[in-house]
Amino acid sequence: MSRSPAARRRPPGRRPKQTPETILRAASRAYAQDQPTEALRLLRPLMDTELGATDMAALAAILTNLGHPRSAEKTAAANAALDRIGPTVPAADQMIAARAHAFLGQHGRALSHLEAVIAETPGDREAALLAVRLGVDGGDLGTGLGLLEQVIAASPGSVTLLLNAAKILGSAGHDAAALDLLERAGQMDGGQTSEIAFLIAGLKGEATGPQGDMARQIFDGFAETYDDVLGGIHNKGPEIVGALVAKIRPRKGKVLDAGCGTGLCAPHLRPYATHLTGCDISIPMMEKAVARKLYDALTRTDLNEHVTIPAGPFDIVVAADVLTYFGDLTPVFRGLGNRMAPGAWLVFTVEEAVGGPAADRDFAINPSGRFVHRAEGVTAMLARAGFAPPKHLVRDQLRFEFGRPVPGLGVAAQKLAIFG
Ligand SMILES: C[S@@+](CC[C@H](N)C(=O)[O-])C[C@H]1O[C@@H](n2cnc3c(N)ncnc32)[C@H](O)[C@@H]1O
Repeated sequence: MSRSPAARRRPPGRRPKQTPETILRAASRAYAQDQPTEALRLLRPLMDTELGATDMAALAAILTNLGHPRSAEKTAAANAALDRIGPTVPAADQMIAARAHAFLGQHGRALSHLEAVIAETPGDREAALLAVRLGVDGGDLGTGLGLLEQVIAASPGSVTLLLNAAKILGSAGHDAAALDLLERAGQMDGGQTSEIAFLIAGLKGEATGPQGDMARQIFDGFAETYDDVLGGIHNKGPEIVGALVAKIRPRKGKVLDAGCGTGLCAPHLRPYATHLTGCDISIPMMEKAVARKLYDALTRTDLNEHVTIPAGPFDIVVAADVLTYFGDLTPVFRGLGNRMAPGAWLVFTVEEAVGGPAADRDFAINPSGRFVHRAEGVTAMLARAGFAPPKHLVRDQLRFEFGRPVPGLGVAAQKLAIFG
């Protein structure tokens, strides 16, 4: 295993000094990556240590989320410790206290710490976004938005701040507030125009015309770190798709990996392919796929432009973690269906809409700017594009985001012969 740059700089045999802060950071990372046993192992030395108020609060917050038996006792101690954090404590500690209260579900108290943070460091974007999230989760949206506006005023031109706040609002059904921020972001020149236009169209329920530009903008810049980042958040898309393909036990045939990216699905598909084609809109992503040497062909494709989809006819088409970049899936299903043999399988994942604004719609934009879909909506869109109802529909966690599992659907459906 290669050593980290920090480890390379250390003389051999010397371990980095462990402080409560480094331990808490490592434990919260382990928690976020769904490794509760590891998080507890890391926290154990701190459980009987005398800690400062903010470290105590952070410890209690993680224990509470882990459901540890000592969490009630620690939460009480943490609350007492947090009570001691007054308005004169430095902003960094106020921020830790805010996060701890947020973790403990105490939204109002978290917001008052954020007020103190923003009073001391008026351009603190992280504090502003946490305020919006708390406002959305805890109901006091007015306070959250007020704090956001203070930070916007102190850091003019921050397109990313407006964009991220809009995503949080849009995901929670506050469409008007999200649109207002996106329109203001669109008037700034931040080089993110495609993504902004895409989100505006999605929120207004209009056709997502600029989707291809948006995807290229995101993934061209993401190719270099994609595999590492996705590994770190327990990405399961390729595995889910691979398991579904194994379940349908197809004869070996022509396989298309649509939106293949860096090729993470290829090892799951190769055993079923006499010929394996990958296609994607992002050349830098596909350059990584070339290096895997598992595809027989790779082509530049925009799934919105059906003429660019490889010819087929394919026996299996997969799309792992790709359709989540599209709202109405009917046109993409039609485009792929046109390249499939009658009876061929379409296997894909989408992020599942669980309650929230998508409850009465087939799809909605989620916090990260991707779409969530309802299972019934997916089935209806498949039907409109000439596919049978899904033979397999599994629910699973696609990955972790901000420490929370992202619920997903894995779907396998067959193209109806009559449309062939
Ligand atoms: C999250 S990655 C998933 C990659 C791969 N399927 C995997 O599971 O690792 C999404 C991929 O979809 C591609 N994509 C998004 N929109 C597309 C479009 N309109 N046409 C073709 N590819 C697209 C992106 O370029 C990116 O490589």
